[in-house]
Amino acid sequence: MKKKEKPFVSAVIPAAGSSSRMGEDINKLLLLIDDIPVLARTLLSFQNNENIDEIIVVCRECDILGYAELCKSFSISKVSQIVRGGQTRTESVLCGVKACSDKSEFIAIHDAARPLVSQDIITNVINDAINYGAAAPLVPCKDSIKRIENGFIIGDIKRDSIAAVQTPQIFKSDIIKKALENAKDKNLSLTDDCAAVEYLGVSVYVSRGDYKNIKITTPEDIELAQTLLKEV
Ligand code: CTP
Ligand code: MG
Repeated sequence: MKKKEKPFVSAVIPAAGSSSRMGEDINKLLLLIDDIPVLARTLLSFQNNENIDEIIVVCRECDILGYAELCKSFSISKVSQIVRGGQTRTESVLCGVKACSDKSEFIAIHDAARPLVSQDIITNVINDAINYGAAAPLVPCKDSIKRIENGFIIGDIKRDSIAAVQTPQIFKSDIIKKALENAKDKNLSLTDDCAAVEYLGVSVYVSRGDYKNIKITTPEDIELAQTLLKEV
């Protein structure tokens, strides 16, 4: 029997945020972890994954030239376009998705701020997305989670009914395009791309996440990333 050809997979890397929680005048994506910028580490993870056919970087207009240079100096040859993002993450992702090749069958959306994603996680989520149409990596919550209101705890949430979602979140191209256009039309405020897809009533498969796949958000995350990198 003829082996089914592997699908064309695009990676969209939203990198158009303003790093406000990292501190004033800092671009967290250019901070170094063991001498390599966060953004370069993230892009290299996708460059080195054999299932990824092209990479679209979405960034602020002022960073386009600098990021093109960064791609050149780290030989990230799969980057086909660097496009301008929007005011919200969802807008930025939509800009990236629109720039994907017409050949694209699956789109993997991955935060530029998650530089420690492993090859195993990328490949595993791609395979789950091929099987189920939509998949995202999740990890169980370690802390107990409470409902709060006006400064007081008002209730509990069963820990086994919740999980923390990471990226890459991977979808069939037509599903994510429709979901993000819908989110834009309805002006939905979303923090991840699964939420846009869930809104359409499409089920997203729960793939295996990784506690090491942290998002660089506040200054201590850089130290944490250095430590985690030493363990790999
Ligand atoms: N992002 C984006 N466009 C936006 C906002 C965020 O492409 N308008 C990207 C960020 O660059 C980041 C990812 O989405 O790679 C996750 O966002 P987050 O960690 O919140 O980064 P920032 O928005 O830059 O940080 P902050 O919220 O602290 O300002
Ligand atoms: Mg943000």
